Amino acid sequence: MSDLTIRNLHVSIAGKEIVKGLNLTIPQGEVHAIMGPNGTGKSTLAYTLMGHPSYEVTEGEVLFGDTNILGLSPDARSRIGIFLAFQYPVSIPGVTVANFLRSAVNARRRAENPEDKGIPIPEFRKLLKEKMAYLKMDPAFAGRYLNEGFSGGEKKRAEILQMAMLKPGIAILDETDSGLDIDALRIVSEGVNALRGPDLGVLVITHYQRILNYIKPDVVHVMMDGRIVESGDAELALHLEEHGYEWVRERLENGAAA
Ligand SMILES: Nc1ncnc2c1ncn2[C@@H]1O[C@H](COP(=O)(O)OP(=O)(O)OP(=O)(O)O)[C@@H](O)[C@H]1O
Ligand SMILES: [Mg+2]
Repeated sequence: MSDLTIRNLHVSIAGKEIVKGLNLTIPQGEVHAIMGPNGTGKSTLAYTLMGHPSYEVTEGEVLFGDTNILGLSPDARSRIGIFLAFQYPVSIPGVTVANFLRSAVNARRRAENPEDKGIPIPEFRKLLKEKMAYLKMDPAFAGRYLNEGFSGGEKKRAEILQMAMLKPGIAILDETDSGLDIDALRIVSEGVNALRGPDLGVLVITHYQRILNYIKPDVVHVMMDGRIVESGDAELALHLEEHGYEWVRERLENGAAA
């Protein structure tokens, strides 16, 4: 089993502690959502899981299956099946979507089998075409430079295309729903749902309950001030939408939650 287990994680940026003792387990096969006010460290957590060098882990551990991933480079993490859909995807001028995906798919295959000769081009083309059609992306995007000149929604769709091609073991979606129109939200959610199964864990970071109507979470967590302070079922997201975060703060101040 490749569960993601985060224990007592502390993360600092530029000497300032942002994540302050976070505990979270995402069993393989489950979908968990994190909601929480702006600036509480949700993206910091996502970047840290991916191994961004600016984020310094000062304490704690992160296991993916039995592997402690904190010592691994970002590309090693990607090769073993950790995937992050960025809140703000960056563009890579000069690298087409197709070339980028083929390199990434081949790196994943080689991690599983060092003898692998890479995905045959016709097979790759067929797979890419299929996934792009599923996500209702114009096939012309395959030949465009990654994210260059893509609209906000197109970038988010390109992130899910990467996820579909890479078939990760754990996928972290950082506000993938932001900036999507209503149809795109449904298409992207269906894309994620199509990948759901016993081999995939998903962490959906979002501000809005709406995406969770499509991607039904097993567990919803509230992150506040660098920690998970409340967890519950899908109802918790509805409750937050209606009542905001004030009640969570009050409970914390009264020393109720962990
Ligand atoms: N490179 C950096 N230098 C200094 N501070 C940073 C840096 N990156 C993040 N921070 C700070 O860390 C805190 C947490 O930021 P983070 O992006 O993780 O929040 P978030 O929960 O994802 O918020 P949002 O909901 O707005 O996306 C913020 O106060 C932010 O300003
Ligand atoms: Mg964020």
